[in-house]
Amino acid sequence: MSYDGAIKALSNDALKYVKDYSIIGLGSGRAATALVKSLSKLIEVKDYHIVAIPTSLQIKLTAEEGGIPLVEADQVGHIDVVFDGADQIDSQKYVIKGGGGALLRENILFGMAKKIVVIADKTKFVKNFTRTVPVEIHPLARTVVTNTIVKLGGKVKVRTLDRGYPFFTENGNIILDCDFGTIKNPKALTQKIKAIPGVLESGIFLRKPDVIYKAKTGGKFDIL
Ligand code: A5P
Repeated sequence: MSYDGAIKALSNDALKYVKDYSIIGLGSGRAATALVKSLSKLIEVKDYHIVAIPTSLQIKLTAEEGGIPLVEADQVGHIDVVFDGADQIDSQKYVIKGGGGALLRENILFGMAKKIVVIADKTKFVKNFTRTVPVEIHPLARTVVTNTIVKLGGKVKVRTLDRGYPFFTENGNIILDCDFGTIKNPKALTQKIKAIPGVLESGIFLRKPDVIYKAKTGGKFDIL
């Protein structure tokens, strides 16, 4: 089942939130990539003076290819609009992020944003979260954080690459993928995870998106 047509169409629609001289935050992943491609065309056609902040090397390379001027998050005090994907979205509109490992930078951008626009295909929408929660931690805190998350009811797996090599984030940290089964109270859970010393970020973000685009088949989409 392909959602490519809808993602392309909604990416063009979502660009209505981009004004001349905006500061734009770019999440990571496939949805963010589609948005960046549309954004690159928009700034060329309209001759917009925007700058964008990437959350990973993956999206930085895509933005560079599209000729989008880039700055780093610490060079600005706010972001006008952040565009990002999501791994799951629950009925309360909380999101799980970090499937690609960029959660720490993505949540920094969420915290700086005046508006957050999230794009996801309809398979990501659930009543309650069911997928694993990525948790970025300092490598030296692996055992103590694992033990604490087990006490919170989670099953923990250190994220690895193919052939078992550890996955390191762009911040030099590791990720624990934590299975809590069905999550009925994501806010309470993420607050507990974030309170563990050694945890740098939880994939359940406290801030909810302002606008959510849901890609459907046949090139259609909904705006929530
Ligand atoms: C990156 O770490 C993630 O938070 C992505 O934004 C998320 O995995 C969604 O990616 P896709 O748009 O590729 O599904």
